[in-house]
Amino acid sequence: MAVPGTVQKRVEELRRLLHHHDYRYYVLNRPEITDAEYDRLFQELKGLEEAHPELITPDSPTQRVAGQPIETFASVEHKAAMLSLDNAMSPDDLREFEARLRRVLPGETFDYVAEPKVDGLGVALLYENGVLSRGATRGDGRVGEDVTQNIRTIKSIPLRLGGALADSRVLEVRGEVYMPRKAFEALNRALENAGESTFANPRNASAGSLRQKDPSITAERPLEIFVYHISALDPISFQTHWEALVGLKSAGFRVNPRSKRCRTIEAVITHCHALEAERDGLEYDADGVVVKVNSLSQQRRLGATSHHPRWAIAYKFAARQATTRVLGIEVNVGKTGALTPAARLEPVELAGVRVSRASLHNEDEVKKKDIRVGDTVLIERAGDVIPYVVQVIRDRRPSDAKPFLMPTHCPACHGQAYRPEGEAIWRCTNSACPAQLKERLLHFGSRRAMDIEHLGEAVVNQLVDRGLVKDFADLYHLTVDQVAELDRLAKKSAQNLIDAIHASKNRGLSRLLNALGIRMVGERAAQLLEARFGRMEALCRASEAEIGEIYGIGPKIAEAVTKFFAEERNLRIIDRLKAAGLLMEKSAAAGPKPLQGKVFVLSGALNAMSRDDAKDLVVNLGGRVTSSVSKKTDYVVVGTDPGTKAEDARRLGVTILDEAAFLKLVGTE
Ligand code: IVH
Repeated sequence: MAVPGTVQKRVEELRRLLHHHDYRYYVLNRPEITDAEYDRLFQELKGLEEAHPELITPDSPTQRVAGQPIETFASVEHKAAMLSLDNAMSPDDLREFEARLRRVLPGETFDYVAEPKVDGLGVALLYENGVLSRGATRGDGRVGEDVTQNIRTIKSIPLRLGGALADSRVLEVRGEVYMPRKAFEALNRALENAGESTFANPRNASAGSLRQKDPSITAERPLEIFVYHISALDPISFQTHWEALVGLKSAGFRVNPRSKRCRTIEAVITHCHALEAERDGLEYDADGVVVKVNSLSQQRRLGATSHHPRWAIAYKFAARQATTRVLGIEVNVGKTGALTPAARLEPVELAGVRVSRASLHNEDEVKKKDIRVGDTVLIERAGDVIPYVVQVIRDRRPSDAKPFLMPTHCPACHGQAYRPEGEAIWRCTNSACPAQLKERLLHFGSRRAMDIEHLGEAVVNQLVDRGLVKDFADLYHLTVDQVAELDRLAKKSAQNLIDAIHASKNRGLSRLLNALGIRMVGERAAQLLEARFGRMEALCRASEAEIGEIYGIGPKIAEAVTKFFAEERNLRIIDRLKAAGLLMEKSAAAGPKPLQGKVFVLSGALNAMSRDDAKDLVVNLGGRVTSSVSKKTDYVVVGTDPGTKAEDARRLGVTILDEAAFLKLVGTE
């Protein structure tokens, strides 16, 4: 039976619409219609195709997940070998790269494109007459695996080319399939809940997902792609790599927005540093920057070795993983008595830092990873966080290694430890435990609490060990002579410490509340309590209900605060602090509040002041500083190397302030 022309037309129209909305949704992240509207179009197309199967084409949006699970992947010989990249470990290696280019092409000048080197899985996508016909993994570079069925399920890969490339006969494009970090974590949680084995990192997760035998499983995995290279194109051609990227974008591909055109190798180096600084803020793992000569004519003339193209190089970020040996497992006591296991490690260099300890978080974590003394472990340091153990290298375990047992007594005071039902943390029950006291004193004197300079770890340890300080109030009764007796403390330093302790008396109520280490009360809650009650006396008398009514303070914080003030011991300490002359109300330093209620996000470095100082300034003027941009944000302050927050601000229409505008607003211009 012949298909009526109107049906044929409608089918084509629906495909065009669905391709367009896929692109808006998956590539641009800016949908124009609701999910329900999209579903209606999709179902209409599906209905028509079911009634007229002869109309189904492979580039139809209904055909992303199609086909049966397969036994093995067919081999694919790449049109052009997928080479590796040469590595640059330092800026000088990049300068040497340019010197080599000059030697091969004397007298010529070069400009570059620098792109994040996303840590995923290299793929080659073949389009014939504008339609996706094959997707292959890199394999050994010459021969890869045909994963077309799985590639098709990645929604940000166009099934049909648009824009500048719509009329090409052949296009082979290379790109990196990856899994965004957040999606990776969610996937692992889901796998864990389902009792299935998890992936060690996003790279393994993307490889595992793309090499699924059943495409319907791949379709459920949150895979993404960035394309970065045209390896074959007929007949259209571009003059530069940058133009090719722009062309790929217009064809419907995702191109990394952090790719940058650089006029000189020094500009490349600056961009490499910027990307490395931004590394933790990226939504994906990246292990370096790929630097490419921009001119395609120069690329052709530079050619390749059997291993790598001469026109490109990978600038590698500092390594963040290393293997080392566990020398011991210690248990540390925190300021609330939490017992935290930590691994003592054979020192090893990691991303420019010597690492000799790694947090093991809690008992369950050690059990789950089965970390034992003597084990060789893979450790990782991501950004500023404490290094952690990724996994044990099992075949290097000594035969006599014994499983770790959590102590049942506090290693500092030998008091009974217990692990409350439903919690992961063991706690020391002794409120006079010296290890807890030391941690509490360090917090009390810290920068954002009472800001007592010179009250460092060495001093605190001795003050507690010699019995000179048993609670916060004792600090204010120390004499210069007492302090001068501590090891390695000159009379002058002793005087400085005493002066600093006395200078802290006027910090005001909110800082004091933060300093007291009340469970769940940090800077923000302390400020809210100060704003509501004004004076310590009023807060002490407040009921749990009154505290819970404060906007921004939940019932759990209210309970913790009331509990704290119900304890006789705590009230005694507060009385003694008051007798020592501590300010128990809002600090007079607080002036007018022109930024009352305004929400700020700080992004990048400022020249005039540190981040902490900028934060203080905003808070002192009544504003608030949060870490991520949302519709509730009033201002995003953008310094140098700002990262993605400025983009978020632009997207959400939030006012962006540069440093000058910020300084003007806070009146320190
Ligand atoms: S260009 C001829 N650009 O790095 C083209 N590669 O060791 C050579 N990679 O297997 C590759 N991001 O999977 C290029 N922006 C990027 C890249 C990139 C990641 C991977 C790719 C390749 C490996 C090279």
